[in-house]
Amino acid sequence: MNKIFRLTVLAAGILAGVACTACKKSPAATATKAGMYFGVAIQPGDILDENKAKLIVQNFNAIVPENTMKMINIRPTKTLWNFSDMDKMVDFAQKNKMMVRGHTFIWHQQNSTIVNQIRNREDAFALIGENINQIMTRYRGKIACYDVANEIFNEDGTFRKSIWYKWCGTDLYEEAFRMARAADSDAKLFLNDYSHEEAGTPKAEAFYEFVKSMVEKGVPIDGVGFQLHLCTDYGINEERLRENIRRFADLGLEVQFTEIDIRMKMPGSEADVAIQKEMYETLMRILKDEPNVNTYMTWGYTDATSWVPATFHGYGDAHLFDKDLKAKPVFGSLVELMKNK
Ligand code: XIL
Repeated sequence: MNKIFRLTVLAAGILAGVACTACKKSPAATATKAGMYFGVAIQPGDILDENKAKLIVQNFNAIVPENTMKMINIRPTKTLWNFSDMDKMVDFAQKNKMMVRGHTFIWHQQNSTIVNQIRNREDAFALIGENINQIMTRYRGKIACYDVANEIFNEDGTFRKSIWYKWCGTDLYEEAFRMARAADSDAKLFLNDYSHEEAGTPKAEAFYEFVKSMVEKGVPIDGVGFQLHLCTDYGINEERLRENIRRFADLGLEVQFTEIDIRMKMPGSEADVAIQKEMYETLMRILKDEPNVNTYMTWGYTDATSWVPATFHGYGDAHLFDKDLKAKPVFGSLVELMKNK
């Protein structure tokens, strides 16, 4: 090889390395080729760290801000809007051709202290309306879908007695979807929850009935989010999960897997690791079979910075990458499943 040729090859290699965000064979490209979204919840620091940013871009084609768009962060006081982290995430996604989910407008947690000033139902409507308008107009065309409301049910199927429910009953939930549709008519609008994924539980039934009533009333809802924070102790009832997904399809609605993680009791045994792998794969197979499921978002990518151990004491190892950012075997099998989609 002569010197010029060698230098050319070297330069091409470096360029390919730099521009490797969309390497044809990357898992992200595989997901895109399969016509699906394979995504991850991220924190602002993830895209500032070169290694982590690279890992995210190569392996996923969608992101969701884990905390950045929640009221406490994006609007800490009535007059202070803190868009900088969200802007950076959206720019990152645009640059790397990733889909963005917006999460979330109505929730009972991580609200800012502005909610303490709510005195009546009109105040609650106004506050949520301002948040929806500000955020959705700013990111119009850049954020594809939003969790308009999150976790509004209790396990027993009653409505959660949140500050929103206290002032507005269910009216605000429905009105928020209308306000969101008006703010960005192209964004898809979702109602998101956990432990309602398998048909037959009080929560799953109440959630389904409420969504059905929204559809019947013409409330502009496009789909429902299944968080899927799962545990190897309980497994998945695949039949009940599919049954639930199909009844939403019958309503004309999409189902997105919005926050997947599968924890195990620590230290995890080999059996737990095998069950976890099987569970992650089952969800991907369901996505492949069910026409109204196309989005597989994981809630964080590494056990190093997971929300799981702090929330479920004694549990962990829930994610697709280990503490050293190394992909677990389950990750490879998910990519293989995507290839055959
Ligand atoms: C969690 C985040 O992962 C944590 O970092 C934060 O401290 C609390 O919220 N359901 C949801 C998410 O809809 O917003 C939650 O995220 C996890 C459960």
